[in-house]
Amino acid sequence: MKRLWIYTMATLLLTLTACEQGVPQLGKNTVDDVVAAMTLNEKVTLLIGTGMAGFMGDSAVVGETQSLVPGAAGTTHPIPRLGIPAIVLADGPAGLRISPTREGTNDTYYCTAFPVATLLASTWNTDLVEHVGKAMGNEVLEYGVDVLLAPALNIHRNPLCGRNFEYYSEDPLLAGLMASAMTKGVQSNGVGVSLKHFAANNQETNRMGNDSRVSERALREIYLKGFEIAVKEANPWTVMSSYNKINGTYASESRTLLTDILRSTWNFEGVVMTDWFGGRNPADQVHAGNDLLMPGRAEQGKAIIAAIEDGTLSVEDVDVNVKRILNLILETPRFKGYAYSNKPNLEAHAQITRNSATEGMVLLENKANTLPLQSGIKTVAAYGITSYDFIAGGTGSGDVNEAYTVSLFEGLENAGYTIEKDVESLYENHIQAENEKNKPDESNPLAAFLPKNRPSEFVPTTAQLAQHASRSDVALITIGRNSGEFADRVLPGDFELTDVEQQLIKAVTQAFHKQGKKAIVILNIGGVIETASWKAIPDAILLAWQAGQESGNSVADVLTGKVNPSGRLPMTFPNSYWDVPSANNFPYEVLADQRRNLMGGDEASAKEVKNIDYTDYTEGIFVGYRYYETDRKLVSYPFGYGLSYSTFEYTNPTIKQVDKAFECTIDVKNIGTLSGKAVVQLYVAAPENKALAKPLRELRAFAKTSELQPGTSETITLRVNTDALASYDEHREAWVVDKGLYQFCIGQNAHDMVAQINISVN
Ligand code: BGC
Repeated sequence: MKRLWIYTMATLLLTLTACEQGVPQLGKNTVDDVVAAMTLNEKVTLLIGTGMAGFMGDSAVVGETQSLVPGAAGTTHPIPRLGIPAIVLADGPAGLRISPTREGTNDTYYCTAFPVATLLASTWNTDLVEHVGKAMGNEVLEYGVDVLLAPALNIHRNPLCGRNFEYYSEDPLLAGLMASAMTKGVQSNGVGVSLKHFAANNQETNRMGNDSRVSERALREIYLKGFEIAVKEANPWTVMSSYNKINGTYASESRTLLTDILRSTWNFEGVVMTDWFGGRNPADQVHAGNDLLMPGRAEQGKAIIAAIEDGTLSVEDVDVNVKRILNLILETPRFKGYAYSNKPNLEAHAQITRNSATEGMVLLENKANTLPLQSGIKTVAAYGITSYDFIAGGTGSGDVNEAYTVSLFEGLENAGYTIEKDVESLYENHIQAENEKNKPDESNPLAAFLPKNRPSEFVPTTAQLAQHASRSDVALITIGRNSGEFADRVLPGDFELTDVEQQLIKAVTQAFHKQGKKAIVILNIGGVIETASWKAIPDAILLAWQAGQESGNSVADVLTGKVNPSGRLPMTFPNSYWDVPSANNFPYEVLADQRRNLMGGDEASAKEVKNIDYTDYTEGIFVGYRYYETDRKLVSYPFGYGLSYSTFEYTNPTIKQVDKAFECTIDVKNIGTLSGKAVVQLYVAAPENKALAKPLRELRAFAKTSELQPGTSETITLRVNTDALASYDEHREAWVVDKGLYQFCIGQNAHDMVAQINISVN
């Protein structure tokens, strides 16, 4: 606190002295004048962040600016002489990540753990996501942060990517519109976002050195498309370049990516920053248009100056980047002197979390209307470790320091249910014993970032289960998964259920069925898991995702029917990992070892698949449902899938051409007995093109109805710009809309179409 005061006073004094001497001041003079007054050292200082405490932070002011908001990921360098303050950047996609406590005070600085991005995408509701973004951005503002390092919108190329929970979807339109909504919401507070990680960052294994070898077409149509949508629609203040290389060049060193595409083609006017410690050559980064190097190391400054001195980098390149950073600083609350409160309305935000989470939960199975729970159900037997230790969100920079997480059993108790006490104590004793064994290694500086060792699952004995079933009305079995940056997920035991989990589902369901009672599986996961082998066993499956700090209350709201589930999958759940189009081109050792065992190969053949230096995106544009539908591959749950407690009817599809767009309408009627929302998904099939293979159909627009009472209907209008029908033709280096007959289909999901109209494009 004292250091912060000294720093503030020193800054004020220097600024006053500078003003007296007539030195240009940011905000009072033009940016050009300020840049003209800067020494080369000052310019270079501005291009480099102030380091990261405990992680090679080696610049002079590291301590001072980092105490502005403890726990923030980084700050820029202040230059008091020119009236340039430091600005603060902090994660992340599920809410602001700062330290919840500070030295010398008992005050707390908790933030709201909102639902993870994958859940938000499952709402298919852009208004809702904007609303969440508004609340998230308010915490950014009120805790004195200037730029939120989110949203993250890399494509779910492979279900094993450890950060998929931070990302939205396997589809670029859904990802791009979700990121736009989040950006608009956050930035409506007068703070900025950083769209990340730009681009083709689809795995964690060797993330800082891996080369994503991807065709130009797949890049444009799949991996860049979402960024293009969000940049054009929502004007993000900043973009974060990714760690990886793309076709041999680090993203942060690629002028093609950061200047030609992002700026010249999409008109992005903001700042590009590196991911933390990303890239290798600072001079190349500056020339590429990567303005800010984060978190910043003194050697980077020396390398930039050396490059200027030996003529490999021009001062003009430096100036362009410096100006962009100054323009960013001018917009920030810190520059404007906003008096932040450190007291955002956490209660109101908890309510937003609870409501938004219910809307993104996906009902996967519901035999004989098991859900909503019938009124006679009073006592619940809750199985699975995660029923008692619910996972609010993933780990790493996508984590949030929230004050609490409502567990499933707490949520059920809040909703008036009684938890079967024998089951509860069985679990609590087991969890306590396991936690004793699994204490994290506090000496590892990354410990706070890594997933903690979770207690192992167990199956109660048949006699115990029979007794529980006789004392309770229904069984819930929660299956939990967690992951985060630095590591990808593994196949057995993570993507697939463990044998114990399989046995738990079977044994509990059998025991309850024997007594005429039902068993429901709750999936508390951040990414896709295998479901085909066991989904027929329980009576219902609710995919709750990692739903933020109100998780237990949100799940209870859906189980009781207070909220009718309207979530739809933003990705495909395949029948088997090996059906994933990138299954064999996803480098990680456990998979390789397992493949060796599966294939009976030797050490040498295992090495062949351990290609951790590069990843070939051989599937091209055929990612997710674009592959499964085109190749007619059966899946466990298709993209866009989700059940409701109600039924919806789709009638009267129309289409007309207006200006350079198509306008489709469809009537959606709730023909069930409970009120609820439906998602309208518009897929378009392009005419066949022998030279440029087209997916069977692609999502081109979507919308969510309002809450429809039984018997009522709503007309939904969806607009598709003609340009949005284009494919990227590598030979012509252009987007091309083929002439011919297009099928516009309304789907319940990517597989099941309910209405179709054809229209010609000439
Ligand atoms: C992550 C970024 C994050 C940054 C700052 C990196 O490790 O990849 O997503 O914003 O750290 O915490």
